[in-house]
Amino acid sequence: MKNYKKRKEIENEVLKIYRKVSPSHRNLINNKTKSQFFYQRANLMNTLGIPVGYFKNKKILEIGGGTGEKALFYAFYGADVTIIEPNENSCKIAQRIFSKTNLIKKLSIINKSIFDVDLKIIKNFDMISIEGVLHHTFKPMENLNMVLKNMVENQIILIAIGESHGMLKRELQKEAVTKLANNDPMKISFYVKKLFPEHLKRATNHDLRNAESVIQDNYVNPQDESTNLKDICATFLKNKISYLSSYPKLDLFYITNPWNQERENYFNYNSYKKYYGLLEKIWMTCGEEKISETMKTFDLQHIIKEVKNDEKKLLKLKQKIKKNSFREKDLEIIKKGYMGIGLNYFVGIKQNTDDKKFIKKLSAYKKSKIN
Ligand SMILES: C[S@@+](CC[C@H](N)C(=O)[O-])C[C@H]1O[C@@H](n2cnc3c(N)ncnc32)[C@H](O)[C@@H]1O
Repeated sequence: MKNYKKRKEIENEVLKIYRKVSPSHRNLINNKTKSQFFYQRANLMNTLGIPVGYFKNKKILEIGGGTGEKALFYAFYGADVTIIEPNENSCKIAQRIFSKTNLIKKLSIINKSIFDVDLKIIKNFDMISIEGVLHHTFKPMENLNMVLKNMVENQIILIAIGESHGMLKRELQKEAVTKLANNDPMKISFYVKKLFPEHLKRATNHDLRNAESVIQDNYVNPQDESTNLKDICATFLKNKISYLSSYPKLDLFYITNPWNQERENYFNYNSYKKYYGLLEKIWMTCGEEKISETMKTFDLQHIIKEVKNDEKKLLKLKQKIKKNSFREKDLEIIKKGYMGIGLNYFVGIKQNTDDKKFIKKLSAYKKSKIN
């Protein structure tokens, strides 16, 4: 495999951090946390158009499955789940969590890196999930490509990945604290707590992780490389993956064409380039969800104007941080509200729209009796 050595080097750097603090671990022994976690997952799956009923009797492969909490969720709803996870400490925690349930037979762990597994196993599953993993690997899109090219017809792929526009505010936070702390992990932790307490509180409340886990994973982690929407779409498109859903959505909000019209795959970035350009700016600048307020006076022009203003401010701050000429008061725009989009979710299905195959099937069907 091209770049194998470099990939393993980066993986080892990342695992050094993750061996200290397993980033995915949630305390599911606590019943309140467990029900909150399962409730959030069910909501997410509904939003992505994969209701929990889908999982019954399905086979799921979770790449970078961490400490197994998400696998447990799928198994709870009837799936057989295999996780691939290189961090032996996370695997031990997963094994412990699984063994405390009556779902143990539905769960298996492969304690390996994605780079050391024969990816031909992918064809044995109904759904492949890669959440929060790719941006911590060297050349995320090459790695996604490796997975997608092993998929077979009708398989579903779910990824959650840092997208460059949505991640801008967080990346600015990280760059600012890294500069202030001269890249010293202890000092990074100090500055995150000092400068971005509101974000830290949101992240821990929302993600049900502790502050140290969030700091290690998001600020100290040596590999956190977001990818832009254009490259993510291109990787899906070239592997013949049709768009099923995403969050935030890529779907055109004003579409009213007749239902039977053929639609261009939303992974075809160039077809929607201008529209996506606006979405990217919205993802970059979004910071406060005042939906009920906005709805009272909904004014699209005004929203777009605000987005463009905020974009300018952020790009100015980006320059200041890059040149190391920022002051604490400059950071105001990356202190309050939620910080863009932490993870963009994309769900696709490997196409089965080979016209020749379809016509052949159809003619065979005509010959058979219909009863
Ligand atoms: C931020 S955690 C996300 C864990 C889990 N998927 C979740 O969403 O909670 C990233 C995970 O990717 C795993 N990982 C890192 N490099 C990997 C690789 N080369 N192959 C497979 N998993 C990897 C890490 O060990 C870690 O468990």
